[in-house]
Amino acid sequence: MDFKLMVAQAIAKASEIDIETVESALTTPPNADMGDFAFPCFVLAKQLKKSPIVIAKELAEKMQGVNSYIDSVNPEGGYLNVFINKAEYANSVLKEVLSAGNDYGKSGEGNGKNICLDYSSINIAKPSHIGHLSTTVIGNALSRIYTHLGYKTISINHLGDWGTQFGKLIVAYKLWGVREEVEKGSVLALMDLYVRFHEEAEKNPKLDDEARAWFRRIEDGNDEAVALFDWFKKLTLESVQKIYDLLGVEFDSYAGESFYTPYMPAVIKEMQDKGVLKVDDGATIVDLSEYNMPPCLILKSDGATLYATRDITTAIYRKNTYDFHKLLYVVAYQQSLHFKQFFKVLELMGYDWVKDCEHVSYGMVSLEDGAMSTRKGKVVLLDDVLTAAIEKSRVIIEEKNPDLEDKDEIAKQVGVGAVVWLPLYNNRIKDIVFSYDKALNFDGETAPYAQYTHARCCSVLKKAEVFEKMSELDFNGKLLNDLESIELVKSIDALKDSIRSAAEKNEPYIIARRVIDICGKFNRFYYERRIMGEETSIQNSRLALCAATKTAIKIGLYLLGVNAPERM
Ligand code: ARG
Repeated sequence: MDFKLMVAQAIAKASEIDIETVESALTTPPNADMGDFAFPCFVLAKQLKKSPIVIAKELAEKMQGVNSYIDSVNPEGGYLNVFINKAEYANSVLKEVLSAGNDYGKSGEGNGKNICLDYSSINIAKPSHIGHLSTTVIGNALSRIYTHLGYKTISINHLGDWGTQFGKLIVAYKLWGVREEVEKGSVLALMDLYVRFHEEAEKNPKLDDEARAWFRRIEDGNDEAVALFDWFKKLTLESVQKIYDLLGVEFDSYAGESFYTPYMPAVIKEMQDKGVLKVDDGATIVDLSEYNMPPCLILKSDGATLYATRDITTAIYRKNTYDFHKLLYVVAYQQSLHFKQFFKVLELMGYDWVKDCEHVSYGMVSLEDGAMSTRKGKVVLLDDVLTAAIEKSRVIIEEKNPDLEDKDEIAKQVGVGAVVWLPLYNNRIKDIVFSYDKALNFDGETAPYAQYTHARCCSVLKKAEVFEKMSELDFNGKLLNDLESIELVKSIDALKDSIRSAAEKNEPYIIARRVIDICGKFNRFYYERRIMGEETSIQNSRLALCAATKTAIKIGLYLLGVNAPERM
């Protein structure tokens, strides 16, 4: 039973205002003695042509005793405070969570509609650095969240696998590379070659001409060029796969920039036919001055296509292939002009589905000074960050719980969870400074804290020997009428809304905050209320609440891409 909906229905009926308006305005008061739900009556003032104070009074009178789930309704200022029947409420939430288990909060609202997610989108021959953390973990979280809501998600790694830099790399490899060394050093060796190319090309500009020639050979399908490029690609994908395995990230497609080459001529012709192109100083552009944007470059004067040309072609291809309900690009905010420009071009081409495309942008991640030395003095490798976090969590576990079984696996889950959490705990757009100590703090608002609370619930349930049969626990909401229990029940209930609004705003942090709130409420409950040794009916009701907490934390963490070990 959805109590919020039920309250909204009762208010809608009494006020004769549509339920949507009522439900979206219904809030949760900051503290429980103001009611379980509060309805701001000013929302109806215009429609009902009355003051909020009068509306609140009238509604309160009409609603007395309408429904056995509502205990009382009080007007206060322009607000209507609704107190629900706590026992019924607790019963209904616990019943729902315990019977759904890990499916709690799932819904069919997505109706199988396709959501395309473009994320991680790494560049070939470049190592994944800390900058790839956000796109990868936000994209992964969104994919899990939409799936939970019944959408079908298509995760696409739009590889940066096209451009003259690959010609440069071939030149560098042929001049200075040694196959075995590159094989061994993988993507870092490729990066070295690339850096060397730039140093040498400054002294010898002829190298740039050679690089262009090699790039053309890749495009023309020359055997040697393609074989080398494919090898670079293989090395890059193998090295990033280790990171994806740690993060639990999977892609449905690795169609990158080069994949769209054959589709481009038709799209360029279409733009020409639709009259959106203009030649300017030899280059082909779309003039966007009317929209206060610099022009979108489509073809360079030598006829080469650009990043935007590829993205326009890609979006059209994705629409034709997946008929997406939404196409989300999880990409750093530095690229926001690029997205605005090419979205506008698609609009000018007459594609009204561009309204379903969204740049899901995010801020920068940097490391606290001295938190780690970078291997190359330039980039902070994601691999290194994850490895260091795992090692540090191993040390903490060794200190706190040396007898723990499976320490390596748990250290991995905790270390990775701590890192993954960073871009997920705040509004996406916020820049974050990474510190291992803060990330791994078991008492902060961190993944390890949530994992620890989850493990605590598991241990309570195991000690009571009900872990295997949580769904069969007998409970009675009347026995959960203390403040700590009710607050916890409410927070667990709110997870469903949090999941929905995380999807609506493409903001996983809403779930992360909810998980931390559930953990805080549980820990308060755990300190204030005795579980074991109480009369059986109380004990079982509290165990049921503990089981519901465990389930809710586990689901919340799962949706964020964080594992929840049973022991820590
Ligand atoms: N590879 C690009 C980069 O590292 C990100 C690509 C994002 N996706 C896209 N369709 N533009 O900057």
